[in-house]
Amino acid sequence: MHEYAISPTFRTITPADIDTFVSISRSTFYDAFAYCNNAHDMDLYMEKHLTHPPLAAELADASNVFMYCMVGSEIAGYFKLKSGASNDAPKGVESIELCRLYVIKEHQNKGLGQAMLDYCFSFAQQRGINTMWLGVWEHNEGAKRLYTRNSFMQYGSHDFVLGTDVQTDYLMMKQLK
Ligand SMILES: CC(C)(COP(=O)(O)OP(=O)(O)OC[C@H]1O[C@@H](n2cnc3c(N)ncnc32)[C@H](O)[C@@H]1OP(=O)(O)O)[C@@H](O)C(=O)NCCC(=O)NCCS
Repeated sequence: MHEYAISPTFRTITPADIDTFVSISRSTFYDAFAYCNNAHDMDLYMEKHLTHPPLAAELADASNVFMYCMVGSEIAGYFKLKSGASNDAPKGVESIELCRLYVIKEHQNKGLGQAMLDYCFSFAQQRGINTMWLGVWEHNEGAKRLYTRNSFMQYGSHDFVLGTDVQTDYLMMKQLK
């Protein structure tokens, strides 16, 4: 287990959090990807996936777990875990998908991404799930470093459609024990 320069806490994001959740989902996605993508594609994607109706539906879906990472009373990041079947999941094992992992810009590079990952690993293991998988944009070097450092291995790839732009996500998995 890692030691952290700051000690975050975690709390479930509930349907009652929808307004802050929409805002944080949009700002973190924009901050992460606007600089390297076409504005029109960003708009299309954010309008389709990061507005009130789709995010409220995701929060209401029992196969999803959303959690805020808190530093004191401040939201510093969030993640989404999803259980259940998926064509992209590793074959032959029960697994959980880490769908989103975002640290707010001002809080990056302080170990919170690592702390959130460690929390996700414990969360899965406590439920008897020993394989985690995810998709990461092939050009997202920082995230790929984080996952590789945590022994995620690439096992495939899939298309990720950002507006009109078909991009490649690497599929990575990790055995939790
Ligand atoms: C990827 C992401 C989640 C990582 O979060 P983070 O909190 O910055 O992660 P960490 O702080 O644990 O690690 C990031 C870097 O900070 C370094 N770091 C961590 N604690 C540090 C400290 N106390 N002092 C100096 N450096 C530190 C790490 O070694 C790491 O270095 P690297 O970039 O050379 O690999 C974050 O950058 C993010 O939200 N990006 C945008 C969204 C995104 O791409 N999400 C992933 C989608 S798949």
